[in-house]
Amino acid sequence: MIKERISILMRQYFSLKDIKSIFYLIRPFILKQWKAYIILLVLLALDIYLTIAFASFYGRITDSAMHGGVKEILSLLHYGVALLFISIVSNFSYIYFDTIAINAVKVDLKNHLLHHILRIPADEASNLRTGELMSHFSNDIHGIDSMIGSSLISLIRLPIIYIVVFIYLANINLTLCLVSLIIAPIAGLSGILFGLLLRKNGREIHHLVGNIQNHLNESFQGINVIRSFTLEKMFYQKYKNKNQELFQLELENSKLRGWYYSGGQIISSMTFLVSLSVGALYVSKSVLSVGALFTFLNLVNHLVYPLTGLASQWAGFQRSVAAIERVMKVLNKQADVMELPSFLPGRAVEKYIKFEDLSFSYSENKNVFEHFNIEIPAGKVTAIVGPSGAGKSTLFHLLQGFYKPQAGEILLDGEPLDTFDTSTLRSSIAHVPQETFLFAGSVKDNLTIARPDITDKEMILAAQTAQLHEFIRSLPDGYETEIGERGIKLSGGQKQRLAIARAILKNAPILLLDEATSALDTETEHLVKEALDKLMKGRTTIIIAHRLSTIQSADQILVLDEGKIVQKGTHNELINSIGLYRNLYESSYKENKKQELSMAVSTH
Ligand SMILES: Nc1ncnc2c1ncn2[C@@H]1O[C@H](COP(=O)(O)OP(=O)(O)OP(=O)(O)O)[C@@H](O)[C@H]1O
Ligand SMILES: [Mg+2]
Repeated sequence: MIKERISILMRQYFSLKDIKSIFYLIRPFILKQWKAYIILLVLLALDIYLTIAFASFYGRITDSAMHGGVKEILSLLHYGVALLFISIVSNFSYIYFDTIAINAVKVDLKNHLLHHILRIPADEASNLRTGELMSHFSNDIHGIDSMIGSSLISLIRLPIIYIVVFIYLANINLTLCLVSLIIAPIAGLSGILFGLLLRKNGREIHHLVGNIQNHLNESFQGINVIRSFTLEKMFYQKYKNKNQELFQLELENSKLRGWYYSGGQIISSMTFLVSLSVGALYVSKSVLSVGALFTFLNLVNHLVYPLTGLASQWAGFQRSVAAIERVMKVLNKQADVMELPSFLPGRAVEKYIKFEDLSFSYSENKNVFEHFNIEIPAGKVTAIVGPSGAGKSTLFHLLQGFYKPQAGEILLDGEPLDTFDTSTLRSSIAHVPQETFLFAGSVKDNLTIARPDITDKEMILAAQTAQLHEFIRSLPDGYETEIGERGIKLSGGQKQRLAIARAILKNAPILLLDEATSALDTETEHLVKEALDKLMKGRTTIIIAHRLSTIQSADQILVLDEGKIVQKGTHNELINSIGLYRNLYESSYKENKKQELSMAVSTH
């Protein structure tokens, strides 16, 4: 069992597949920064030259000192200062261009990720978790660091410097050079072992960080539920435990890295000691000059660290795989539009909207609609009523193309919905959803997102129509008042009226109202309804309502039950025939009566 697991780990570790797919993903972003990468390559060549030049400079100046040539020492000093100057400029440039090569790639990758997420279809997107997604941006993408910029350049730099230094040192003394290599292979082996452990640890860390971010996100979003169900202690404890677990994993990570680097240092020191001892022996026998030994000792570390470096590079790749494979999972989800939709002038429906032989299910086990057919006439008001879970809101989702039906189609004046460009389709529809979502920002910010060219006059008119203007005026900063995250500072009814004003401002030819006035009191609802009646004129409108009093004037009422149309007609027709509508009407009538009665009692 353990043997099997080790063999799987080893296979994963040496498999190039994961690494190749990550490189495939980041290649275009690296190529975009080709100038920075070319400059880094030039600086790399300069660095190799400087390494050798400095070592040879130390040797030459030592030998000159031994043989007493002051003039020679002085002229060498000029050379040394020049080398130092070049090295300062080169180091500065290296850091500068490395920052470009790393950060520009990461910025592009983050943009690409958001661009992709925004295009993931609704059914796929509903499986994604906000906290996890956010941790891809804040945490996982940084895992790519060890695959780009100077780390990527190191892949070329390390073997080159190894070969150059080897040839140079072999020229000084081949035997000494070979002797100093005795312990070096241990460096490579330790790199492999630690890389394996680091990959496993890295994967656990990234997974947990995403998990913690999710927990935090839900703690803040659901703060009121947490309060009313007194879950504070439980949420806090859960967070504390996860954090402690993360701390342990980080500790394990640093222990692994600590062992790895100390191991590298021990090997470096031993190599140095072996070279020093054997080199000193050669100097005593006059096989080697003191200067040559100096040069040798100065360079001998370059025969060890490229090996540990390459191994740790590999370990870094493994860590990157652990982080980036999480991002890749999201990027591998099929996006459903090429371009990000944006506002376009809407397209009016001239004749009808038809749902034709449509079958749809969110998940495989239960169909919401089966062979479903309805026709909605253009320019008229159609109301849809029915019990909870009947599929009413789903009709709106389908009509906006959030979800695709498994069979059948939706036709707009005979043209299938699929043939519409997403921007045109969505710009043609103003939707007041069942659950209002508002953005953090001012009232004005939330209203003007409806269309790009809204004037203040239009905005105020829409707010007046939605019976919201007086309230906004009473706010400390009027239309500029901040309404808090998700409009938390507004009441349910105020949020709903804001959503209605926003839909009015969109001025789209198709209007979809999903329980749009459900949170309003009867009087405000009546006023808003009057305004909406005006707005609906000439537009193709579909209203979903539980309170049947609001839809009595609709041109057509469809009664939906368990995904099927069970009745169809005007209010008068339906009220006079036995069926679900009459039952719903009678029970809502009783409810209204009860309310009126209790209000009358309370006012007396
Ligand atoms: N995103 C979703 N994923 C999976 N199933 C869903 C999803 N949204 C809705 N459903 C299911 O689809 C069915 C129809 O839901 P829908 O929201 O259309 O009902 P509704 O008629 O609008 O009800 P209500 O009056 O309560 O708003 C329900 O059984 C619901 O559980
Ligand atoms: Mg609904």
